[in-house]
Amino acid sequence: MNIKHLLTEKTQAAFVALGLPADTNAAVTVSTKPEFGDYQINGAMAAAKLLKTNPRQLAEQLLAHLSLEGIAEKTEIAGPGFINVTLAKTWLAAELETAAIDTRLGVSTNVTPQTVVVDYSAPNLAKEMHVGHLRSTIIGDAVVRTLEFWGDKVIRQNHMGDWGTQFGMLIAHLEDKLAAGVDLEQVGLADLEDFYREAKKRFDDEAGFADKSRNYVVQLQSGDAHCKKLWQLFIDTSVKHSEELYKKLNVTLTNADIKPESAYNDMLQGIIEDLKTKALAEESMGALVVFIQELADKDGNPSPFIIQKTGGGFLYSTTDLAACQYRSHTLNADRVIIFTDARQALHFKQVELVARKAGYLRDATMYDHCPFGTMMGEDGKPFKTRTGGTVKLAELLDEAVVRAKAVVKEKASDLTDTEVEEVARKVGIGAVKFADLSKNRTSDYIFSWNAMLSFEGATAPYLQYAYTRVRSILRRADISDSFMAKVQLVEEQEKQLAVKLLRFEEILQQVIKDAQPNLLCNYLYELASLYMTFYEACPILKDGVEPTQRDSRLMLSIFAARMLKQGLELLGIETMERM
Ligand code: ARG
Repeated sequence: MNIKHLLTEKTQAAFVALGLPADTNAAVTVSTKPEFGDYQINGAMAAAKLLKTNPRQLAEQLLAHLSLEGIAEKTEIAGPGFINVTLAKTWLAAELETAAIDTRLGVSTNVTPQTVVVDYSAPNLAKEMHVGHLRSTIIGDAVVRTLEFWGDKVIRQNHMGDWGTQFGMLIAHLEDKLAAGVDLEQVGLADLEDFYREAKKRFDDEAGFADKSRNYVVQLQSGDAHCKKLWQLFIDTSVKHSEELYKKLNVTLTNADIKPESAYNDMLQGIIEDLKTKALAEESMGALVVFIQELADKDGNPSPFIIQKTGGGFLYSTTDLAACQYRSHTLNADRVIIFTDARQALHFKQVELVARKAGYLRDATMYDHCPFGTMMGEDGKPFKTRTGGTVKLAELLDEAVVRAKAVVKEKASDLTDTEVEEVARKVGIGAVKFADLSKNRTSDYIFSWNAMLSFEGATAPYLQYAYTRVRSILRRADISDSFMAKVQLVEEQEKQLAVKLLRFEEILQQVIKDAQPNLLCNYLYELASLYMTFYEACPILKDGVEPTQRDSRLMLSIFAARMLKQGLELLGIETMERM
């Protein structure tokens, strides 16, 4: 059920009756104030401009042709030509009953599934994953879950950085340690962060080490077996580390989704040759560069996009061009979505422009780089440890669970110790995820333990708690899982709740279009708040409530609980029966 769609279709039919094209923008929106009804049709104004007529008059004609019998109980023209629509309670009740018997909660089935490649998480291996990858991982996963729920074919791709120049340095350091007789167990790979730091120090300070490192990179990239064996050690350790994190985070990525930079290695030389043949790339100071006129600076200097370094090394950029070819031509993607921080915006613009010109991206493939802002500390500076280091993701998540446990213990009266552990895990991880997901993706945000673990406001604990409250009402009502009853919407709070429940599909469509899970977060928060308002105004299990009324309100409650659970699940946040 998508009310916005329905009203759009009805409006467009009315436009056609008035001689306007069938795709005239109906501009249906949700009303901003209760006195404007539930939805507004705003298309008359633009259409009047097109017809060079008076917008209010056109709105009147439109209204005369608009067939909303049974759907709306009131329609009204306001201002310069808005049409305010108040939906009929009986219609809403019937729609809700239909949605309630549906396992998809009334969300229609996607009739034109798309193949969508989603590139997310993508940590750089041989380093611990840090908070910068948190955003990519959880935003990407929420979008993936939503796409799959809607019915698209999603191909997850974890474009791990496993092929960069840092590996030359790491291999050189490892080789020296092994040559000095340190056995593999003692080498210190378990703490890759430390190992990395040691190697980096030698790279910066030790004469000859940097050259040696560069040499190893070339050997590695040209397939030297010994280098590859050592490299694999780093990869295995890192992958294991990320696997544990994904599990902790309740993220759907598995090892099968790893399609790292190295996977494109065999394509890179071909890409270089091809770009040369197509006269897109040229030599400049020993390197191979595509000069992009479309992205020229204000003085007209084209934007340089380096695809091969002096000395022959390939780059991040070369790999991304190969990835375009693979995703668009081999996987046949209709859409590619990539989540990285905003600093890579120029890179992906360059990739898209070059890939389109060279034919690596088909016209039919949408290429969406979805940037996100930086996670800030409470001091307003990028989130760091107290000593200024990068915050390790694993430690951050452990801290979240510890803090959540304190919060849960304070609130919970009758949970066993095991239950407290379980609830704390879900609340802690959920809190970190919701705090991130609920912010507008493109803006920076401040990471605050107190805010995210609060039971007030738009937080995971608030929503999880709201869910347990509805569930506890349902337990007290002692009804079966398949409980069904007639829905009757009498009070305004009942109606508002019903309208909200029927908006789920609308929200999902928007989340998919904009790759913005915060829209779903807002929706769930508003839904939970509306439920609380409804519950206070409309008694359910109190003495004196008519059985038909009680049953109708139980129907609303069951549906609200299912919606909260489903919505949180799309965000990758777990719920519990009690807390
Ligand atoms: N590994 C990169 C980073 O940590 C992100 C990769 C994103 N995907 C891509 N196709 N370039 O910044």
